Amino acid sequence: MFPLDRRQFAASSFGGLAALMAMPTVLVRQPVVPDPITVVAPFKPDTLFLTWQRDPTTTMTAQWVGEWDATDDPTIYYGPTARTFFDTSPLKWDTAKTTATPFPQTELINFRSELTGLSPGTEYRMKIGRNSPTYKFRTMPAKATNELTFVSGGDCGVNPHAIENNKQAAKQDPWFAVIGGDLAYDNGTSPKTYLSWLRNYSKHMVDTKGRMIPMICCLGNHEVKGGYSKSRSDAPFFFAHFDGLYQDASYAALDFGDYLSLILMDTGHASPIIGAQTDWLDRTLRERTERPHLIVVNHVPCYPSFRAAEGPAGKLGTGEEQRKNWVPLFEKYNVDLVLEHHDHTFKRTHPMKDGLKDKNGILYLGDGSWGQLRNASKSTARSYIATASTSYHLTVHRIEAEQRFHMALEEGGKIVDICRTEKKVRRKG
Ligand SMILES: [Fe+2]
Ligand SMILES: [Fe+2]
Repeated sequence: MFPLDRRQFAASSFGGLAALMAMPTVLVRQPVVPDPITVVAPFKPDTLFLTWQRDPTTTMTAQWVGEWDATDDPTIYYGPTARTFFDTSPLKWDTAKTTATPFPQTELINFRSELTGLSPGTEYRMKIGRNSPTYKFRTMPAKATNELTFVSGGDCGVNPHAIENNKQAAKQDPWFAVIGGDLAYDNGTSPKTYLSWLRNYSKHMVDTKGRMIPMICCLGNHEVKGGYSKSRSDAPFFFAHFDGLYQDASYAALDFGDYLSLILMDTGHASPIIGAQTDWLDRTLRERTERPHLIVVNHVPCYPSFRAAEGPAGKLGTGEEQRKNWVPLFEKYNVDLVLEHHDHTFKRTHPMKDGLKDKNGILYLGDGSWGQLRNASKSTARSYIATASTSYHLTVHRIEAEQRFHMALEEGGKIVDICRTEKKVRRKG
C-alpha cells in the first residue's frame, strides 16, 4: 500500500478514464411512437434500482416498489444499446418476466426481474412494459483487462449529505456501488425511511452517460430491529430486496467472472460471527485464492476509528470478535483489502498483520460516513490508524491490471486521501 499525491493520481487516472469512456459509436433509436390516442403518462417508478444475485458479467436484476396496479405490464424489455449507423432494422427487445411479492409492512408490492444470459461488458437499454422511459445499464466485463472503477461507502441515511455523496459517487462513472451496511437507518421498522433512501439512490445514482449504477449491499445493525444477534426476519426491507444474493445466509460471496470476488460479511446482526459464518469464510476464501482481486466488506470495523477497540472489564470491544476469528483468516489467505464502516469517519489503517504494522499486511479502509459523521480527532492516536478525518465521504476504487488505487472523496469532491494496493501472493491455506 503506497500513499500517492494528488498529481500522481490524476496523471494515472484521467488518461485511463478517457479510455474507459471510449465506447463504440452507437446510434440509438427509440421504439415506434404509439398512436397518440393511446399515449398515457409514462410509467416511471421512483424506487427503480439495479443489483445482482449472481455473476455481474452476464446478469442484472431490476427491482422497484410500487402499487399493485400502477402498470398493467411489468415485463422488462431489453436489448443491447449498440447499433451501427447502417443498421436500420427495427430495434429488437428481449423480454424477462417480473415477479411480484408483498413489500413488508406496507400495502405495496416489490417487483423483481432478473435478466440472464447477457453479454459481458455490454451497454443495454431497458424498459418496464412499453410505456416507461428507456433506461440504460452495463454488464461487467468478462475480464479485468482494462481499468475498472467502482465506489464504496456505508452509513448513508436520507439527509442532504447522503444525497450529495450519491451525486458525487455518480459523477465518478462507477461500474457499481458497494454499500457496507446502515443503508437507510430504518431499523427494520420504518418502510417509509427505507423507501426514502431508495428513492434518493434511484434518482441520483445514474452516471454521466445516463446509465443506472447497480448497488451491492451488506447488512448493518440499522437494517435490523434490535441491531445485533437477531434473525433475517428482523431485517425485512433488506432481505425483501437482497435475498437473491443472500439466499442461504445473511453473508455471501459475489464473484465477477474469475477476476474479482466481494466477500460480504454479517458482523453479528442476523448471524453470529463465530461458528458457521467463520467456517464459511475459511472455505470461501480458500476457494478464491486464485482471484486477482479479493475484497472483504464488513459493517462493524475490525479496526475501529471511533468506538473503543477494547471493551471494559469482561466485555468485548468493537470488532474484537472479528479480530479473533476473521482477521487470522484474512491474513491466512492474504486478502487484498477490507472495506469497513459503522464508525462514521474516514479512516485508513496501516497495513496490518498479527495486530501490528507490517508492510506486507492488510489495509482496512472505512469507516462509513456516506451520510453520518463522528469526530475523528482522536482516531490517529490509535497505533493501527494511519490517517483519519471527520469527513462525509465515499471511496473511489480503480483497478488497473495488478494494482488498485483508492481515493476517498468528500461530498463536495475534495480529495481526502489516496493510496494504492498491489497484487498479492496468496497461498491456499
Ligand atoms: Fe451507522
Ligand atoms: Fe452501524
